[in-house]
Amino acid sequence: MSKSHTSSPKHIAIIMDGNGRWAKKQNLPRIEGHRRGVKNVELVVELASEIDLEYLTLYAFSSENWKRPAEEVNALMALLKHFLKDKRKLLHKHEIRLRAIGRTSELPRDVLKHLTKVEEETSHYKRTLALALNYGSRLEVVDAVKSYVSQVQIGSEIPDDLTWEGFARHLYTCDMPDPDMVIRTSGETRLSNFLLLQAAYAEIHYSPVNWPDFGREAFETALTDFHSRERRFGLTGEQLKNGTH
Ligand code: FPP
Repeated sequence: MSKSHTSSPKHIAIIMDGNGRWAKKQNLPRIEGHRRGVKNVELVVELASEIDLEYLTLYAFSSENWKRPAEEVNALMALLKHFLKDKRKLLHKHEIRLRAIGRTSELPRDVLKHLTKVEEETSHYKRTLALALNYGSRLEVVDAVKSYVSQVQIGSEIPDDLTWEGFARHLYTCDMPDPDMVIRTSGETRLSNFLLLQAAYAEIHYSPVNWPDFGREAFETALTDFHSRERRFGLTGEQLKNGTH
């Protein structure tokens, strides 16, 4: 795979969709689709390392996913726990720091314990794998406002001085750059409450491939699509070409 150059993405965020449909196609239980989905996380982390990607964010469990059947929620939590125990070696191998985004305090206690341990253990690495867990953009805004208001109450923030950058310091993603590209697998074309504010200028790539099959070829297709886009950030194409901004 080709190495990164100047216009390469620094941060890719992925909505890993289609585990259930992948399983159904092979006459397997949905849980097996999730199991294969977790396996694929390892491959995509490797692919991201190959292009020196600095930030990879994966939507692993949304704030709405609790509404799924209890059996599926429990299986997802068990897979997450297993991932946290089992994939520590992978994180150390590629010098990747694990970072959770979301209202993680509501995760089962044993999952949270492993999560905190791996986050602490890898916190010195520069490259980041962010797992969105109990994440939803609307929940994130609510939590950010609560955090901001508490700072106003103690006099650390002044409402009249508020800027977007100042507010963004209260988001779960406070220490991360915005994603350059959001990928959604499985052919669905929605953002489903994922990084809605941070993706303001992100290129969106919809891949028809179900997450368990999203491998090297689909990843390269997404990168090629990204490089074909002109990112204008509100400017005109002319301004960008002439450098008159
Ligand atoms: C969407 O597939 C996927 C999820 C709701 C969860 C994604 C989770 C994983 C890949 C496993 C957990 C991840 C880690 C890092 C431990 P779907 O069930 O909505 O598929 P469908 O739309 O085809 O039914």
